[in-house]
Amino acid sequence: MDNIRIVGGATLAGTVRISGSKNAALPILAAALLADGEHVFRNVPNLRDVDTMTKLLERLGANAVYRDGRVEVSLSGSLDPTAPYDLVKQMRASVLVLGPLVARCGRAIVSLPGGCAIGARPIDQHLKGLSAMGAEVELTHGYVEVTVPGGRLRGSDIALDFPTHTGTENLMCAAVLAKGRTTINNAAREPEVEELARVLNKMGARIEGAGTSAIAIEGVDALHPIDHAIIPDRIEAGTFMVAAAATAGNLFLEGIGFEPLEAVIVKLREAGATVEREGNGIRVVGARPIYPTDVITQPHPGFPTDMQAQFMVLMSLAEGTSRITETVFENRFMHVSELNRMGANIQVNARTATVHGVKRLEGAEVMATDLRASASLVVAGLIAEGTTDVRRVYHLDRGYDQFEMKLAPLGATIERVPGNA
Ligand code: EPU
Repeated sequence: MDNIRIVGGATLAGTVRISGSKNAALPILAAALLADGEHVFRNVPNLRDVDTMTKLLERLGANAVYRDGRVEVSLSGSLDPTAPYDLVKQMRASVLVLGPLVARCGRAIVSLPGGCAIGARPIDQHLKGLSAMGAEVELTHGYVEVTVPGGRLRGSDIALDFPTHTGTENLMCAAVLAKGRTTINNAAREPEVEELARVLNKMGARIEGAGTSAIAIEGVDALHPIDHAIIPDRIEAGTFMVAAAATAGNLFLEGIGFEPLEAVIVKLREAGATVEREGNGIRVVGARPIYPTDVITQPHPGFPTDMQAQFMVLMSLAEGTSRITETVFENRFMHVSELNRMGANIQVNARTATVHGVKRLEGAEVMATDLRASASLVVAGLIAEGTTDVRRVYHLDRGYDQFEMKLAPLGATIERVPGNA
């Protein structure tokens, strides 16, 4: 497995173009299952997770090809509604095919995703919603088998116990072909949910309220294929913002708006960075000292859990103590012990990490267990003295489009080292 090697100390400067959003691309690709014909999706990031999703679509009976930021998905004829363990275990987001399959085939057999590095992550809310729409749910041999008597779901009023992101997406996809009207209350409000609704409406669905916590869906009989360019990745952008602030750099992030990142921008400003709208993007200028600030992760529009690890790196160099509380996932502090090995001073107590700012981090060999933790270790490597080797780069490749290739032209000393070197 490859490593990323960074020699710290650079001040990042220049322009970086933000890629398409991973967490928008994945449900959109899954939603292609809802209509026969040829779909074209543009601005699709070049990621391992996208590759896994295209493999899964092929396994289900679609044709899916990624080439230069474009994915063409074509469907004709019947689907095999089984999402096998070997693909689901590689990517939890494989569960996003559940809603489209149930809507399309009246049946789905999807391997249970199980636990993952950042928590247990059950899918009970997805299943509760499908049951409310008339599906029968059975758990057997590690698979969830969902069957719709009569073949077509019926509209229903669903109240989620928690605004689950992929759960809302699955239920939206399930409801678009249901008979009658579905409402999803306490729905997730993430921009990617809004984007999926935009895509589904473009395909002929009738969804209102996406982006708020009350979504209403009027079922239709059939959808048609579309050509669509995917929104930029707010988390990739946020990661570069933190990198600019942490290295006291000056970066222009091209192609991303302010709105999806407001909670992160507020915190970056509190930490002393200057963040301004400029043309078709955002400029971030880092400064010293870095001020401590407390963060609590929340579902959107709160501070995103997907930015928690990266922001912690910034706080590790703050002048003073900050508290970072993770409320979305129960086990998303795996980066802390690695950051402490680099000289950070962070203590975790239950869901809160207390970060005592230090003067400097030191390069080390580190290993990450999830995607955002990997990104945080790369950012830590940028500001550390000496060389940092980030192991298990596999995680980074799941969700960052050519991260090291984007950082190098900005002044970072960074390279990919093949696994056996
Ligand atoms: N939860 C339940 N039951 C459910 C669904 C969720 O208890 O039926 C719990 C989870 O265990 C977790 C919390 O609710 O503690 C939040 O889970 P959610 O379902 O909202 O997360 P997700 O849909 O599985 C998506 C993103 C994650 C992101 C979270 C939160 C995709 C493909 N994944 O996951 O992205 O962290 O929402 O915003 O959209 C990442 O990109 O690194 C990543 C992990």
